[in-house]
Amino acid sequence: MNLELESIFYEESNIPPEFTLEQQVDQREFLSDGKMIPWEGQINEVFSPICVKTKDGLQRKRIGSFPVCTEKESMAALDAAVHAFDNGRGEWPTMSVADRIICVENFTKKMIEKKDIVVKLIMWEIGKSYTDSIKEFDRTVEYIYATIDALKDIDRQSSRFEIEQGIIAQIRRSPLGVVLCMGPFNYPLNETFTTLIPALIMGNTLLFKPPKHGTLLHYPLLEAFRTSFPKGVVNTIYGRGNNIVPSLMQSGKINVLTLIGSSKVADELKKLHPKVNRLRAILGLDAKNAAIITKDADLNLAVSETVLGSLSFNGQRCTAIKIVYVHRSIAQEFLKRLTAEVEKLKFGMPWEKGVSLTPLPELNKPAYLTECIEDAIAHGAKVINPNGGQVAESFVYPAIMYPVNANMKLYREEQFGPVIPVVPFDDLEEPIEYLIESSHGQQVSIFSNNAAVISSLIDPLVNQVSRVNINCQCQRGPDNFPFTGRKDSAEGTLSVVDALRAFSIRSLVAAKFTDDNKKMLNEIVSSNSSNFLSTKYIF
Ligand code: G3H
Repeated sequence: MNLELESIFYEESNIPPEFTLEQQVDQREFLSDGKMIPWEGQINEVFSPICVKTKDGLQRKRIGSFPVCTEKESMAALDAAVHAFDNGRGEWPTMSVADRIICVENFTKKMIEKKDIVVKLIMWEIGKSYTDSIKEFDRTVEYIYATIDALKDIDRQSSRFEIEQGIIAQIRRSPLGVVLCMGPFNYPLNETFTTLIPALIMGNTLLFKPPKHGTLLHYPLLEAFRTSFPKGVVNTIYGRGNNIVPSLMQSGKINVLTLIGSSKVADELKKLHPKVNRLRAILGLDAKNAAIITKDADLNLAVSETVLGSLSFNGQRCTAIKIVYVHRSIAQEFLKRLTAEVEKLKFGMPWEKGVSLTPLPELNKPAYLTECIEDAIAHGAKVINPNGGQVAESFVYPAIMYPVNANMKLYREEQFGPVIPVVPFDDLEEPIEYLIESSHGQQVSIFSNNAAVISSLIDPLVNQVSRVNINCQCQRGPDNFPFTGRKDSAEGTLSVVDALRAFSIRSLVAAKFTDDNKKMLNEIVSSNSSNFLSTKYIF
């Protein structure tokens, strides 16, 4: 099988020209304080998960390089963001909402002009299928427009005075300060922008560190950031996280940490801030979502949703189904049908039509997944599907592991890859107990055609996780729905509207409702002399 797997990779000359990068992207500059700063120091070379066949065997294709800056440059970027915020007196935090929206709209138009190269870079940097890379780009643009609409709504509701108990007040949402924004590699554009854009549009200033895999795709957008926002509002930082991020946190000048990534990193970073109460954290973290397939489930539906849930983008989604509990009485039939469906999945290069399974970007992932599979075998599980767990360089063929038990790594660890651990159960209390004991609490999928069974699961589970999916896989969308988690899975809630709230705080201007105050407030409003105290209505 190894030989056959290797054949999924192309010789360089056979890659369809419409999917190749015109040239390697060697980034030698970064955006800080409104300028593209040239960089001549250390660089990080970027090798795609997509390998090419050479006379020396398979080799990851080099696609470019980016700066590895030091603490000096990241601290300079921090100063720029602090200066642009200027204790809330900067041009950006005091700008009217309508004008901020215009800046974000301008940015989005320029971003759309870069769609082709950004989509190709998503595909080449992280191995996401071309179709899904396009979807990621389009979903991000839709998210930005939805954010603008949501902010207009919030602003319309705030463009009036309220009178309570003899006090007149205007209540608006105000920015929090300097935001350190870090996104994940699996949705390097979309998930990064689902925090970056709301943070920005609410009037905060930003330090933005692109994900380790998925850095280059942000390069074509830097000029759009530079020309759409006042200087110092968006600053990029490049470099090894553990070299440049700790001093940013220790400075005490970061007001908001937003990170989609690991709970371990988030924990460590939060603790470095000298004034914990001044730091707001908005985090999307690890998850180990379970599917619970009861004996009265529609088995075909449960199988197709399990395949989607556990193997979309090779299982590299925080919302992926990462463990499957199946009632022992139907386990064999479930495994048979699951194996058949997995076998139907097309594997190959990301540009191939209909491809589902593609190479993995993390260098150590194939070895880690192999280790998990071997550990499960040593503790009594079997690889159920033919060729499950076979590796060819960066590609791992999905493995269905059964029966998985509590002694195995796959029982607790977030594999974040194409391995499906299946656990048999006799009593519904077993998966419920698993979720109670889990250190994660993002979502669960429950499969049953019996309303009584479903309802007996809903009440205990909604208090363990943040979303219970009935007869379907776990997922983040629709983006207007709250996306969050309990325990180590998240802090704060992201949805189009929730994110705007998360990156802002309510501030109000209040006065006794006297004739003198009425006169003064009228004067301020009619002279347009304050952006906060204003009854202008955004259409
Ligand atoms: O990595 C986690 C993503 O938020 C998953 O989003 O469920 O829409 O694929 P999705």
